[in-house]
Amino acid sequence: MYEGKLVRLRRVDPVKDLDDRYRWMNDPAVANTLGMRPGRLSREEIRSYLESAAASSEAFVEWAIEDLHRGTHIGGCTIRSFNHVARSAELAILIGEAEYRGKGYGTDAVRLLLHIGFDQFNLNRIWLTVNAHNAAGLRAYEKAGLVREGRLRQYGFINGSYYDAVIMAILRADYERMRQKEL
Ligand SMILES: CC(C)(COP(=O)(O)OP(=O)(O)OC[C@H]1O[C@@H](n2cnc3c(N)ncnc32)[C@H](O)[C@@H]1OP(=O)(O)O)[C@@H](O)C(=O)NCCC(=O)NCCS
Repeated sequence: MYEGKLVRLRRVDPVKDLDDRYRWMNDPAVANTLGMRPGRLSREEIRSYLESAAASSEAFVEWAIEDLHRGTHIGGCTIRSFNHVARSAELAILIGEAEYRGKGYGTDAVRLLLHIGFDQFNLNRIWLTVNAHNAAGLRAYEKAGLVREGRLRQYGFINGSYYDAVIMAILRADYERMRQKEL
């Protein structure tokens, strides 16, 4: 378990978390930003994803995000796509409960993921891709210390048109400099 200023990350529970995950993936505001059609994933597919995540495979690690003070389950996040030679991995996050978006919870969760990635998993680079129109995502990731590295043109296709994505990343050296400034 990891605690930030606003959120707690705990390992996913495939039984307890399934209903919320299924509901969030059917919410167009979530699915579209992830480049998916709402409802594209069946309940069974989400159950099977959560079960493999909870089994703690080496391939990815998945957490549930809770509001630190109320204990409400508000989202999920993962570190995946590990490259053990280059010591890099990808981060992904969703704040599923709409009333919790835009209030700092996402940024706090990303900061915790960076702590886990660099300080626990000893990574050198953490990266992600975000829909170029996802202003909240771009801003939250920048606040947490990731920088824009480039634009991936026509990266995905949703609602009848292509969308560009932005690739963002933070290196271990950047993270350490940021931590030094905070001390
Ligand atoms: C993207 C996401 C994780 C960000 O988490 P969050 O808790 O909403 O973000 P935060 O409140 O920490 O930060 C958002 C920042 O973006 C700003 N923002 C939000 N909407 C914005 C908009 N339309 N234009 C410009 N800035 C915007 C907020 O004001 C805030 O910046 P500030 O603190 O400087 O004011 C969350 O919104 C989410 O999960 N959305 C749905 C799924 C998704 O997009 N997942 C990410 C896929 S890469």
